[in-house]
Amino acid sequence: LTCKILAVPVQEGAGRLGCEMGPAAFRAAGLAGAITELGHSVHDLGTLMPAQPRDLHHPNPALKALPEVVAWIEALTEAAYTASADGFPIFVGGDHSLAAGTIPGLARRAEDQGRPFFVLWLDAHPDFHTLESTTSGHLHGTPVAYFTGLKSFEGVFPPLQTIVDPKNVCMMGIRSVDAAERAALRDTDITIHDMRAIDDYGIAPLLNAFLKRVQDANGLLHVSFDVDFLDPSIAPGVGTPVQGGPTMREAHLLMEMLHESGRVSSLDLVELNPFLDERGRTATLMVDLVGSLMGRSILDRSKGPYQ
Ligand code: ARG
Ligand code: MN
Ligand code: MN
Ligand code: MN
Repeated sequence: LTCKILAVPVQEGAGRLGCEMGPAAFRAAGLAGAITELGHSVHDLGTLMPAQPRDLHHPNPALKALPEVVAWIEALTEAAYTASADGFPIFVGGDHSLAAGTIPGLARRAEDQGRPFFVLWLDAHPDFHTLESTTSGHLHGTPVAYFTGLKSFEGVFPPLQTIVDPKNVCMMGIRSVDAAERAALRDTDITIHDMRAIDDYGIAPLLNAFLKRVQDANGLLHVSFDVDFLDPSIAPGVGTPVQGGPTMREAHLLMEMLHESGRVSSLDLVELNPFLDERGRTATLMVDLVGSLMGRSILDRSKGPYQ
């Protein structure tokens, strides 16, 4: 596998500064080495620059940094489309507004290739606000509503060449949902496994059911990994921590299962805020988890599990 790593230091979508240091922390924690150690190659695409911000206005006065975030999304959509022509792109953020660029670019590539496109959204939050419904005004809370085609974004965010079918989106780890999101999520076909579902069934059966759908459709699978998916006791380096998240073992299990599926074709790593981290432990854990996604296992499982 050839992994193409693109650094995307966008932080204007989040409420707290510091996500722009995310790519540097992933580098310091040894992201590239963890991948090459597993026999893959790494192609460093360097650091993305945003487009030139345009004058943009919207009636919701709460919206923060709208021209800046839209300028990032424009550059990201093109970059993701280009990077996904071959190899396995990894977009290292940066806050989660990044996914409003990567996912539309990747979806357009999948459509070119005649392949159904699926998204696994790993997050404490559904990020399903519209430009009208967000009260914080933080645009990292909006990407899913945008790339699944909600009308709110028309004429403000870049026009979508390819909309992601909500039926092809699966969320896991959800545990902080604003009132407007909760109402909007009732009317969508997105599969949502909140923490209660993980408590009831466990990671494995829920993920297997989704992976089977990807498999049966011969789909491409993009994983959008918001660091706040993880419990803050193991991953404190995030701006919007929420108690009660998945454990280290649940997260490794999930990443190992994704590897074994052979379906994952691209990855976002977002919301790492090194300014809020403790001696790099969140960055280090994230690099370990990428290792599991890329094929690391405790014992050799290449011929199946030990009996
Ligand atoms: N729902 C909250 C908001 O809209 C939190 C969003 C957090 N999103 C994230 N990508 N961390 O402000
Ligand atoms: Mn998020
Ligand atoms: Mn989140
Ligand atoms: Mn926010």
